[in-house]
Amino acid sequence: MMRAELGPTLLDAATIAARLDGLACEITAFYKGKPLTVLAILNGSLLFAADLLRRIPLPLRLETLNVASYHGGMESSGWVTFLQDGLPDFAGRHVLVLDDILDTGCTLQAIRQRLVAEAAPLSVRVAVLLRKNKPRAQPLDADYVGFDIDDAFVVGYGLDHQGHYRNLPDVRVVR
Ligand code: XMP
Repeated sequence: MMRAELGPTLLDAATIAARLDGLACEITAFYKGKPLTVLAILNGSLLFAADLLRRIPLPLRLETLNVASYHGGMESSGWVTFLQDGLPDFAGRHVLVLDDILDTGCTLQAIRQRLVAEAAPLSVRVAVLLRKNKPRAQPLDADYVGFDIDDAFVVGYGLDHQGHYRNLPDVRVVR
């Protein structure tokens, strides 16, 4: 499979790191004293979660959920596949879902609905590194947003194009 050609750097590593400091402060202030479980959505939020969680000095549990919503190209497919059976145990816990990007909102909407219906957590909030500036197909917004970006396909810092570029330290636009 051909690699997509990369365009300009949208967010460099230093810019991301500085914003994570601020996000972590907001999250820490809100969850102080609450039983918190962070649910990182794989694979895209892996780097985001690793860097963010090291800035949150609270007792917390970490769980992961493996989903696929892209099925290949550069357009969100609108349907979400849960790649594992069942959900972690969230009884008596506040859940903070971490994802790489809020695009159409289909993925996070499906995850939130399933959590609420099947796992009855005390609360569900959502934190994303990136939020695309576009009308959303689903009535879902994030509670914590790293950066609002234009509606272009981006890679790096956990985000991929057909499996490539997740390990870039910066977020870059695909041409
Ligand atoms: P939706 O549309 O459900 O999309 O909000 C969420 C998931 O789709 C992937 N996604 C992207 N991946 N560059 C990527 O590498 C992008 O610009 C992009 N937009 C959406 C991503 O996995 C996200 O969790």
